[in-house]
Amino acid sequence: MTNNGARSEKVRNTIESIRNIEATHGITKKALQEIRLQLMALATHTEWFTEDEFPAPQEKTDDTSSVYLLSQDAEDNRFALYVQSARAPTNTPPHNHDTWAVITGIQGEELNRFYKRVENGVELTGSHTVRPGSGVTLLPEELHSIHITDENAVINFHMYGLALECLTEREYYDKRSDAWKVFRSDTNIIDARYVTQ
Ligand SMILES: [Fe+2]
Repeated sequence: MTNNGARSEKVRNTIESIRNIEATHGITKKALQEIRLQLMALATHTEWFTEDEFPAPQEKTDDTSSVYLLSQDAEDNRFALYVQSARAPTNTPPHNHDTWAVITGIQGEELNRFYKRVENGVELTGSHTVRPGSGVTLLPEELHSIHITDENAVINFHMYGLALECLTEREYYDKRSDAWKVFRSDTNIIDARYVTQ
């Protein structure tokens, strides 16, 4: 079997395990912790998810993050797995996902801050730096923001219960206008499904 054949099989098997975890436990913190372990195991294969194959945007562009789709279910767009390759300065506002989300580290560091909703916006409740060997889990309504200060490409898995282009109700807190707004759905996704075919 070629290296890429081994990668396709491992990625497909990981996603199948994740489908089974959700079917067994539902969308719960326990399920997401088990999904996180699956994606952390996949992320140890750093030779399969390199900066050469999944580059971050060039420094001249405004975009600091590239999102590569590895897999999503054909019939209902569920179980969407992406490689995100980003560089500094990446700073998102606090936001939810309207579906479950799990992030695990492959290369570099991504600071995640967590929040709860309060009357005047959000209140910080904690933080975790995603790096190789770690990850974070978010239920549909849980809030986080991400921050990258590393000049080198930071490569992570981002997996969602439903594909990004279907998430039309994601909210973020806009500090400047002191208001919750709806994210425009992400259309800038690079199709890398050859990885799983
Ligand atoms: Fe997010």
